[in-house]
Amino acid sequence: MRINKIRIKTNTKNYSILVGRNLLNKIDKILSDSNITFKKCLIVADKNIPYAFKKTLFKKLKSKKIFKIELISSEKNKNYQSIEKIHKVLFEKRFNRSDCVISFGGGIIGDIVGFASSTFKRGIKFINIPTTLLSQVDSSIGGKTGINNKFGKNLVGSFYQPDLVVSDINILSSLPEREIICGYAEILKSSIIDSYKNFLYLDKNLEKILKLKSPFIERSILKACNLKKIVVEKDVDEKDFRKVLNLGHTFAHAYESTLGFSQKLNHGEAVILGIKSAAEFSYKNKMLSKEKLNIIINHINRIGMKIKINSFFKKKDTNMILNFMKSDKKNNSDRINLILIKNFGKIKIDFQANPLVLKRYIFNNL
Ligand SMILES: NC(=O)c1ccc[n+]([C@@H]2O[C@H](COP(=O)([O-])OP(=O)(O)OC[C@H]3O[C@@H](n4cnc5c(N)ncnc54)[C@H](O)[C@@H]3O)[C@@H](O)[C@H]2O)c1
Ligand SMILES: [Zn+2]
Repeated sequence: MRINKIRIKTNTKNYSILVGRNLLNKIDKILSDSNITFKKCLIVADKNIPYAFKKTLFKKLKSKKIFKIELISSEKNKNYQSIEKIHKVLFEKRFNRSDCVISFGGGIIGDIVGFASSTFKRGIKFINIPTTLLSQVDSSIGGKTGINNKFGKNLVGSFYQPDLVVSDINILSSLPEREIICGYAEILKSSIIDSYKNFLYLDKNLEKILKLKSPFIERSILKACNLKKIVVEKDVDEKDFRKVLNLGHTFAHAYESTLGFSQKLNHGEAVILGIKSAAEFSYKNKMLSKEKLNIIINHINRIGMKIKINSFFKKKDTNMILNFMKSDKKNNSDRINLILIKNFGKIKIDFQANPLVLKRYIFNNL
């Protein structure tokens, strides 16, 4: 079975992202082929992952001394206590920097474990085995790690690149449909940033991708990873160019925040609504053609997301949504900074939106 490989080069580390089926079963060989050696490792696993997958991982690593922790994946647990739990085992079992920590879970577990690894003795070997579609196409790449605190989400963290990322598509088979759509949102986002050709591939194969059929899912994951690689390599510290990856996210964060991050609307669903809003607002600002707008909207309608923006928000929520967009950390004037679409493959970063025009757009859509 084929293993696809993407190499990421950053100023601190070069590492591989491997994408394929049945990779867990080959993890021992993958580690030795990647020249990753260690005697001890701590596996931090998401409690929700079916036991059969965990058993395979433990069995394949049995030649090493392994320790295990399970965490419940929730934003509430993305905190200092989880970091302490991980550090406690590492100190008690006398880990040193050449030993290894493995994250086995989605974006929440990956962000926690990445941060714990970066701060343990200033950095221990870190392998990420992402188990959600979102984490395979987005959070496992680029080295952003972090936890939440009472001041907000992801406010404490570091840039810390993993030593290896192993994305096994078979692990996605147990994911709920909503979580697949959540990851798909980021795949769609990156295709719009990348090119019309890439978008058309998704448009042609949408149903097969959402059903995780080969080779469509592999190709979609690889294309999204590749775009993130190009962007991250150009701008590791998120100073400027990396902002394109926030397409749809200023709207999405405002929608999520207005609902108080309720389970009713998850991040990926908010991103899909956010991409739709960014496309419509781009059209209103005479950037995107009507034809391209319709192509994007028709695609979004086919995703089968059961939610519509006006089923969550009423016209009276306009000010709240706008205020969240104003308070977004990317703003530095009285204008609202947006990432808009000129065309597939042509993104406008730092569009300075007039708040009154934006307010009218939001009001008319609720
Ligand atoms: N570091 C970054 O660059 C970056 C980028 C995007 C998002 N994030 C972060 O990622 C997090 C979201 O990640 P996520 O969407 O993967 O969420 P998640 O980790 O909470 O996983 C979603 C749900 O799926 C379950 N799950 C995980 N793997 C499973 C499997 N194989 N089978 C069945 N259930 C499974 C989890 O228990 C959870 O209930 C957020 O905290 C966000 O801030 C980070
Ligand atoms: Zn996102």
